[in-house]
Amino acid sequence: MRALTWQGKRNVSVETVDDPGLQHPDDAIIEVTSTAICGSDLHLYEVLTPFMDEGDIIGHECMGRVVEAGPESNLTADDRVVIPFTISCGSCWMCQRGLTSQCETTQVREHGSGAALFGYSRLYGSVPGGQAEFLRVPKANYNPISVAHDLPDERYLFLSDILPTAWQGVQYAGIKRGDTLAVYGLGPVGQFVARIGMHLGAEVHAIDPLPERRALAARYGVRVYDLTEDLHDEIRDATEGRGPDAVVDAVGMEAHGSPVAHFAQHAATMLPDPVARKFFETAGVDRLAALHASIDLVRRGGTVSLSGVYGGIADPMPMLTLFDKQIQLRMGQCNVKRWIDDLLPLIEDPADPLGTMDLVTHRVPLSEAPDAYKMFQEKTDGCIKVVLDPKA
Ligand SMILES: NC(=O)c1ccc[n+]([C@@H]2O[C@H](COP(=O)([O-])OP(=O)(O)OC[C@H]3O[C@@H](n4cnc5c(N)ncnc54)[C@H](O)[C@@H]3O)[C@@H](O)[C@H]2O)c1
Ligand SMILES: [Zn+2]
Ligand SMILES: [Zn+2]
Repeated sequence: MRALTWQGKRNVSVETVDDPGLQHPDDAIIEVTSTAICGSDLHLYEVLTPFMDEGDIIGHECMGRVVEAGPESNLTADDRVVIPFTISCGSCWMCQRGLTSQCETTQVREHGSGAALFGYSRLYGSVPGGQAEFLRVPKANYNPISVAHDLPDERYLFLSDILPTAWQGVQYAGIKRGDTLAVYGLGPVGQFVARIGMHLGAEVHAIDPLPERRALAARYGVRVYDLTEDLHDEIRDATEGRGPDAVVDAVGMEAHGSPVAHFAQHAATMLPDPVARKFFETAGVDRLAALHASIDLVRRGGTVSLSGVYGGIADPMPMLTLFDKQIQLRMGQCNVKRWIDDLLPLIEDPADPLGTMDLVTHRVPLSEAPDAYKMFQEKTDGCIKVVLDPKA
């Protein structure tokens, strides 16, 4: 089959690789019909280079049609399924408590990591990913989400990651109707965070340096801001001087405006892999501009909820401010399955209240994935979300 493979820093290519086969009785094989590129893939593309191996198949947002179902899976051929990016068993202590991204059956203990993830480096189990014609789906007795056949892929595809990620970000922000919510970052995750905030009756303020992303959010009634000196003053003025009740950081470890950490990240990708891994496991390598700004912006007694991914072990944190302002911090890899019952009715609502059909700017054949990665990373051509089509 054809699959997108990681070859080196900022270097991915489509190669012919072996078709996946069933390895366990609860596996299934799907033919992938749509597979998206995520902001998290950009971390692999560059910063997390030391944890990648040449030839790794990446991709963790996909859906498709079952072509082979193991005897202990609960699927049958031709079922249409969305595949959560977190691989979870559904029956362990963590899964039973809804913490499926901490699944004790699939945890990658060798690296001290939570549940295994599709296409996400050694840190998360080196499981072959879904930017490919076919995908082996482990834990197919629980993990896949079966969906109906009538609506287009784009309605369902984002259940694999960014919709539940955004939903969890807003749930962890703890907002109620009438509260104010700020969102740092208007990538695909931030767009859904902002829309979900509006849908749940919050007043939403969102910040991103890219005008096309601000314009998209503004269409949903979100108040948008460029990254300027006085943006926090403007948002405080709009919130009785206190700041928003909660802030979601939907930017993560590659924020603009952190020059020192930017240099450290770049330097780490130049080191030999074992040295670089040690560096990552002991140093503070995240670009923290958005996180520090979120802490500054939130009102006293408010909540900062991180959807964006961070990975440094010794990142400097403003403990005085966190303590003095009495800030609650929540974060984590998304517990995808935990939120599906809340999201499915919204996805299937004919009115499409979260605008699933209004996010994808580019749908291209899998063969064009290398150019699409470059475009998504450089944010050219108005690119907001790319879906790859392995069958085109
Ligand atoms: N927690 C999870 O389970 C989970 C799941 C999916 C994605 N993520 C993470 O969410 C983050 C966002 O993903 P995405 O797909 O939307 O990516 P993206 O790269 O498209 O979006 C990031 C956005 O942040 C903006 N930005 C950069 N620096 C900023 C700053 N200082 N202030 C304000 N905005 C800034 C960029 O312009 C961009 O629009 C990534 O870190 C990704 O890894 C986490
Ligand atoms: Zn993702
Ligand atoms: Zn489990």
